[in-house]
Amino acid sequence: MCGITGYIGFRDAYPIIINGLRRLEYRGYDSAGIVLYNEGKLNLVKTKGKVSDLESKVANSIETGGTLGMGHTRWATHGIPNDINSHPHVSQSGNIVMVHNGIIENYDTLKKELVNRGYTFQSDTDTEVLVNLIEEVQKQNDVKLGKAVQIALNEVVGAYAIAVFDQRKPDEIVVARLGSPLAIGIGKDQLEYFVASDASPFIEYTKDAIYLEDEEMAVIRLGRKVKIRKIKDDSLVDANVHELKLNLEQIEKGGYEHFMLKEIYQQPSAITDTYRGRLLREEAIIKMAGVEDNMKRFLNADRIIIVACGTSWHAGLVAEYIFEDLARIPVEVEYASEFRYRNPIITEKDVVIAISQSGETADTLAAIKLAKSKGAFVFGICNVVGSSIARETHAGAYTHAGPEIGVASTKAFTTQITLLTLIALRLARAKGTISSSDFRQHMLELEMIPKKVEQALKSDEHIQKVAAVFKGATNFLYLGRGYNFPVALEGALKLKEISYIHAEGYPAAEMKHGPIALIDENMPIVVIATNKGHYDKVVSNIQEIKSRKGKIIAIVTEGDETVKDIADYAIEIPETEESLTPLLTTIPLQLLSYHIAVMRGCNVDQPRNLAKAVTVE
Ligand code: G6P
Repeated sequence: MCGITGYIGFRDAYPIIINGLRRLEYRGYDSAGIVLYNEGKLNLVKTKGKVSDLESKVANSIETGGTLGMGHTRWATHGIPNDINSHPHVSQSGNIVMVHNGIIENYDTLKKELVNRGYTFQSDTDTEVLVNLIEEVQKQNDVKLGKAVQIALNEVVGAYAIAVFDQRKPDEIVVARLGSPLAIGIGKDQLEYFVASDASPFIEYTKDAIYLEDEEMAVIRLGRKVKIRKIKDDSLVDANVHELKLNLEQIEKGGYEHFMLKEIYQQPSAITDTYRGRLLREEAIIKMAGVEDNMKRFLNADRIIIVACGTSWHAGLVAEYIFEDLARIPVEVEYASEFRYRNPIITEKDVVIAISQSGETADTLAAIKLAKSKGAFVFGICNVVGSSIARETHAGAYTHAGPEIGVASTKAFTTQITLLTLIALRLARAKGTISSSDFRQHMLELEMIPKKVEQALKSDEHIQKVAAVFKGATNFLYLGRGYNFPVALEGALKLKEISYIHAEGYPAAEMKHGPIALIDENMPIVVIATNKGHYDKVVSNIQEIKSRKGKIIAIVTEGDETVKDIADYAIEIPETEESLTPLLTTIPLQLLSYHIAVMRGCNVDQPRNLAKAVTVE
């Protein structure tokens, strides 16, 4: 969703901000803007479209000097994506300027009050309301900017990360957060400061960063240490300075045409990083501190409730099969957005597992808070270290997949499944629901998965050819059974997200209850037909499709000749344990979507309307 970046210091602000905006592009956005302060003047440019459009507009319209500035990428909530609704927004007097990520829910009431006081508005945004509210508070109370921001925010209902400055006081930026992330980069000797939605815009300048917590704010002033305060009562909070582990290489494409492709190819190493130090095969031990420390809660659980959104929800569905199969614990998998609003029955004996790549998804965060309020134990599975969900949960484990920048999730999915498998195996061992030899066998197989993913990636060229055949299709069906039913859902989601082709995932046997009516000679159907599980049943489903002239793209275990004979195209994956097949069957589906999207000329890394982290509900 929206991205914020800002700079105050001694360097030219423009290149830092524009590069920062480029690095935040992955979050998803539809317009962009920048403000620079230079010699008593604000230079502001905003535009619908991409950061590259902003750069062209800047080149034709303003001086880019100045050592103070802010930039923004906007994902529209209130008001369509256009130049006027883009951020930054300036108060009526022209003095206070602000960028905002989030939603001010009571903006309409606040706006009416401001209109009564003589304010007029240029845009349809809630942000312009907030910046004018800050101005009005300052006028009424004759206070400094920091205090005015604080008073204004106490009148606001909603979620936000904001950065604000006043051109009459160009040595400070005020920042605040509730529900949307905000990081402060600390320059040497406090001679410069950076502000951003995540640390990626400033990693080449500093490794020291403070992540604001919810309901916190800070006045960042040059030459002074940052003090963090509670928005509600002004109390001082200890500022935790984190040492950033992120490096430039991790957030660059590294020779790949797209981040998505890089991330697909990173899966062997990402999966290894997920189980490294946790899967100790020689000792026949799986250990994760977050699980060990809370083993009693897990073992006494009546059930596990998994909450997540999007691709993470699909990983949750795979986990349902794994936990029930291996550890014999009942599992319910919930869309966080539904769970939080349907008065669910949650008890103190429930364990809730929240899965989130970004750790910032608003609905997942709200579901966690609800579960905690009912006394459940909440365990988080996140990729982004220090994210809101990682902090909000009682315990958890990181996937260690490294930054995922392509909006369509790939390595996050397979590493989440890897981690969930480790947890299921650990619990199964503790509960005695898996024999020692099966346990060892699963560990061995899991350890071999990265090599097998590498092998699966070798089908890339063949998959490109299949993609070329079907790139013009208007619909796709994805079928799978058992462990691979969620993979069918994920395959369909990938295709929809990046190629804009309508696709549906279905349990193969359910095809007869509806989707079969769609099948004709124009319908491509991807069928996951590995030799484990319900192989014979899936073969029958394939025959049923064939009789109706559907075009079959089958994902098969290497050496399978039966399905190969019937299918129009077959893509092989190596053999493994049934519970681990999703880690392999996913790979060709990712590549197929990727190539189709590229061939259709789609923006693979930043698909239209989508955001990497959905920080509004
Ligand atoms: C967005 C992203 C998806 C992601 C989902 C959940 O829709 O585009 O790729 O799966 O959010 O995100 P999370 O960060 O919570 O896993």
